[in-house]
Amino acid sequence: MNDHEIRQKIEQYKFYHIIQLTDQIATPGNPVHLSTQKMVLEEIRKIDLRGKRVLDIGCRDGLFAFEAEKRGSAEVIGIDNDLSKPAVEFLIPFLKSGVKMFEMNLFDLRPDTFGRFDVVIFAGVLYHLRYPFWALKTIRDVLSNNGKLILETAIWSDKSHRALLYCPVEESPYEPTSCAFFNEKGLCTTLRSFGFEVEAIQYLSQRESLKGLLRYVGHVGHTLRRRIKEAFVKADIDRGVFTCSFSCDAVNQQLAQYWEKTHTIHTQIGG
Ligand SMILES: C[S@@+](CC[C@H](N)C(=O)[O-])C[C@H]1O[C@@H](n2cnc3c(N)ncnc32)[C@H](O)[C@@H]1O
Repeated sequence: MNDHEIRQKIEQYKFYHIIQLTDQIATPGNPVHLSTQKMVLEEIRKIDLRGKRVLDIGCRDGLFAFEAEKRGSAEVIGIDNDLSKPAVEFLIPFLKSGVKMFEMNLFDLRPDTFGRFDVVIFAGVLYHLRYPFWALKTIRDVLSNNGKLILETAIWSDKSHRALLYCPVEESPYEPTSCAFFNEKGLCTTLRSFGFEVEAIQYLSQRESLKGLLRYVGHVGHTLRRRIKEAFVKADIDRGVFTCSFSCDAVNQQLAQYWEKTHTIHTQIGG
């Protein structure tokens, strides 16, 4: 395909990710997310992915899935509940990629759907979920022992030491599908309860000044710019990447049994 044909092809689609196709041409995705995506890409590059099985949940056009493939993963699967046509029809064949993408809601994922994974990338999704705890359980269930989770999410920059999960709907700081904002303590405590050890946390606010971020969105319309500004300034919403490792031994089996299965605690204590 020559440059003219590539440009004609990409005009047929709407892209979310900016993915380099040739030295001159990239997909016209949304630049607002570049800084956050850069943090995720950096975490992916820190892991030795050679020979690993990787799952990208909420993969959109496949930016992270393609990166994982480039870094030597044995198999990369992406799922999204709104599968990207440009990824499936154009990017995968154009890049001669072996990434497999499926339209699927993460809540339908089971360990026997695709088997277990060494690495799960879960970026830009958690804060969209009405059932965030169940999502983390679902991810834990498809991770191999000692597997890694790269979790990127919008995070409530609450300085309190109490664990919090703010679940707005109409008054969401983003828009109504964004309905689950943990603070750091809330997310770390929740992750630990599922057997994850949080190894590193990176915050967008620590890397980019708000001014720099707003420069990125300078080209978008006034309403969107105002809403993004409100999200970052008024509601104190940051973006964070939490890199975690999972260990079966770290799961409190008695509590997991109580919460997720049947148990005999009340029978035994008579309470
Ligand atoms: C904000 S985009 C993030 C895309 C990409 N992961 C990134 O960080 O650049 C969220 C993506 O997750 C998908 N998504 C949201 N909820 C989902 C769910 N329950 N199961 C699967 N995908 C979901 C959306 O369709 C969308 O493509």
